[in-house]
Amino acid sequence: MWYPPNGIRYKLTETHWPTVEQANNSLLFQPIKIGKLSLNSRTWVPAMVPWRATEDGFVTEDNLDWYGRFAAGRPGAIVVEATGVRDMPSGPLLRIGHDRFIPGLRKLVERVRKESNGETRFFIQIIDFLSVKRRPEPDKYFSRFLTITNHHREKLAQVLNSEDWLIADESKIRNFLGTSEDSLQDQIMTERELESLRQGYRERVTDQHLPHIKNLPEVLPNIFAAAAVRAREAGFDGVELHYAHAYTMASFLSARNTRSDGYGGARENRVKLPLEVYQAARKSVGRDYVVGLRFLGDEVIEGGNRIDDAVYFGVEFARAGFDFLSISKGGKFEDAKQPKIGAAVYPYTGPSGYECMPTMNSDEIGPFGRNINLATKIKQAVNQSGFYPPVIAAGGISTFELAEKTLQAGEADIIASARQSLADPDWFLKMKLGRGEEIRRCNYTNYCEALDQLHKEVTCKLWDKNKEPSIKLSSDGRRKMLPPDWENKENS
Ligand SMILES: Cc1cc2nc3c(=O)[nH]c(=O)nc-3n(C[C@H](O)[C@H](O)[C@H](O)COP(=O)(O)O)c2cc1C
Ligand code: SF4
Repeated sequence: MWYPPNGIRYKLTETHWPTVEQANNSLLFQPIKIGKLSLNSRTWVPAMVPWRATEDGFVTEDNLDWYGRFAAGRPGAIVVEATGVRDMPSGPLLRIGHDRFIPGLRKLVERVRKESNGETRFFIQIIDFLSVKRRPEPDKYFSRFLTITNHHREKLAQVLNSEDWLIADESKIRNFLGTSEDSLQDQIMTERELESLRQGYRERVTDQHLPHIKNLPEVLPNIFAAAAVRAREAGFDGVELHYAHAYTMASFLSARNTRSDGYGGARENRVKLPLEVYQAARKSVGRDYVVGLRFLGDEVIEGGNRIDDAVYFGVEFARAGFDFLSISKGGKFEDAKQPKIGAAVYPYTGPSGYECMPTMNSDEIGPFGRNINLATKIKQAVNQSGFYPPVIAAGGISTFELAEKTLQAGEADIIASARQSLADPDWFLKMKLGRGEEIRRCNYTNYCEALDQLHKEVTCKLWDKNKEPSIKLSSDGRRKMLPPDWENKENS
């Protein structure tokens, strides 16, 4: 594993871009097989939510421009943002939970084919998530949402040393708790109630008392399978099942999943539903269609999965027949910062979120190649077990040197770059054409990620430096919706 020298922050200026000959001879620009498909290079733009869909989850002109612009840089593959598998409202995020979404998604495929001249493979990430409510006004929470139970009466009687509380009526308890200090609320209310008050109510896969959570293992395989069929109908080259970060499938895999129905507890149980979802999708789309996944090499939360869990899952996923394994890290709700009242908790604000999208303002290691070691350990175990699906590494990979070293050392099979591709979607092409000096380099300060958190159209700070007047502005009128065109690229 390669790291920047100990104690020295790797500077953006310290890199050498390849000549055309070096690029031609590199592994990065060699083709690679994924299932029955071939990628023209080992370059990959992983899923990034741009907040450009309609409120109903349909593809917009802005989505077409966004993916078209990435395709013009001709990466080996692009993965469309996390796209909801259910037919239920989820704000301006793409959806694939009904056939009515297929025509819009088909347009997206056509646009990417056209802009990349058919070179870029186009996958779609499909996701299920549970309900997350906004942090409530405390008054509202105590007057309307909190269910008063005997637990509160008993706790109040015990803590305040007065049996009167055992027969106190609901309104008295609501008023009392609503005007109490945090430290007293901490003693009386349950952990989940405190979370609902201070972070916002959030469902978990372990809430088996709720029928729709209990029956997730019954319903999810078919829901994902139907979404995968729609992806194929729309013309995508394959699907990426989203088993990473803070969402339903990652929560089934998590060591914190204590479900008692055979889908929680031991690793073998936690991987059961993810494998059943895969089998259902595979059965529906056939062996020839690419079905890959994204999962976590480390959850980075207390009591969560570590790399040894991920290695076990990686081998099981490869054994089951997944065509690629894309590795991410962290991005969980459990350690997220407290949102403002009226906002929803965002899984990229705590330490695990930091590891998912590492910034320059961290420790000496900084963001560069920070998570490659996870992909490497998973790849080694998968290969030693006799399976060879490409393993994709992401996290602060923004130079030819790091990308090529990673591939040459056999630490990963494909290089994914999210923010660097956002900063400059032409960066792979520029390297290939020996014009690396023209690359607009991501500075990893996460302006884009802050926009994602605010549910605003995601843009890159560097795009705004360009004075080109023809580029559309964001709805707040302040930012460019797209990067500048790269002049003369076709003349090279
Ligand atoms: C604005 C933004 C949106 C993202 N949306 C997704 C997503 O929908 N699905 C996903 O798996 N990862 C998502 N990610 C994480 C990236 O795919 C990637 O794993 C992460 O940014 C680390 O890679 P990088 O250092 O190359 O940016 C997002 C990242 C950013 C910056
Ligand atoms: S906004 Fe900042 S962190 Fe995001 S892609 Fe642009 S330069 Fe990189």
